Amino acid sequence: MAGRSFIAGLAVLLIAAAIAAEQSPLQDFCVADPSNAVLVNGLACKDPKTVQANDFFFSGLHLAGNTSNAVGSRVTPVTVGQLPGLNTLGVAVARIDYAAWGINPPHTHPRATELLTVIEGRLEVGFVTSNPDNRFISKVLSKGDAFVFPQGLIHFQRNIGKTKAIAIAAFGSQNPGVITIANAVFGSMPDIATDVLAKAFQVDKKLISQIQSKF
Ligand SMILES: *[C@@H]1O[C@H](CO)[C@@H](O)[C@H](O)[C@H]1NC(C)=O
Repeated sequence: MAGRSFIAGLAVLLIAAAIAAEQSPLQDFCVADPSNAVLVNGLACKDPKTVQANDFFFSGLHLAGNTSNAVGSRVTPVTVGQLPGLNTLGVAVARIDYAAWGINPPHTHPRATELLTVIEGRLEVGFVTSNPDNRFISKVLSKGDAFVFPQGLIHFQRNIGKTKAIAIAAFGSQNPGVITIANAVFGSMPDIATDVLAKAFQVDKKLISQIQSKF
């Protein structure tokens, strides 16, 4: 059963590959060479003659991530950072594990649309549209359901079950990027001035300092 739903999740990734938003590659592949200091839009390519099957391979998505943390979730990414063969190809995938009532907190991917498929449990998911409407669009998903988070929009997931949940996320970028809202706003290095955030959030500085101390 678990194997079959896992395959369903991977099928969604293949669909994402067909709708990849990034530029078409100009060669069969460009396996990332992280040791190369040349900067391009992406990573420089390894000499194709030295490329091996393992450059196109990742193992571990069958393993549950450790959700013992403050938010109760764990993302296991498979982007160009973990799978060099994804370089220039415009897709990536991730496994997300959720403890009971765990959340994947509000965040955005600056470079990718995300297609999320639930393979175990039930999740409440949602995203917020841009100004001026800031419309919150949300839905409860069950096993086998897929939901798309449009590129750049703030979104989250919450496990609404008493048991663990698992999702597979497909991305239209080899390097989607992640901006977690609380960490970026309250946990920047150095901190954004407390009075700036107090005015932005219309609360007193003490409350801002209290939140900043947690990130
Ligand atoms: C999960 O993470 C917690 C907190 O970091 C740690 O104490 C625990 O040993 C980890 N569990 C496993 C199975 O790695």
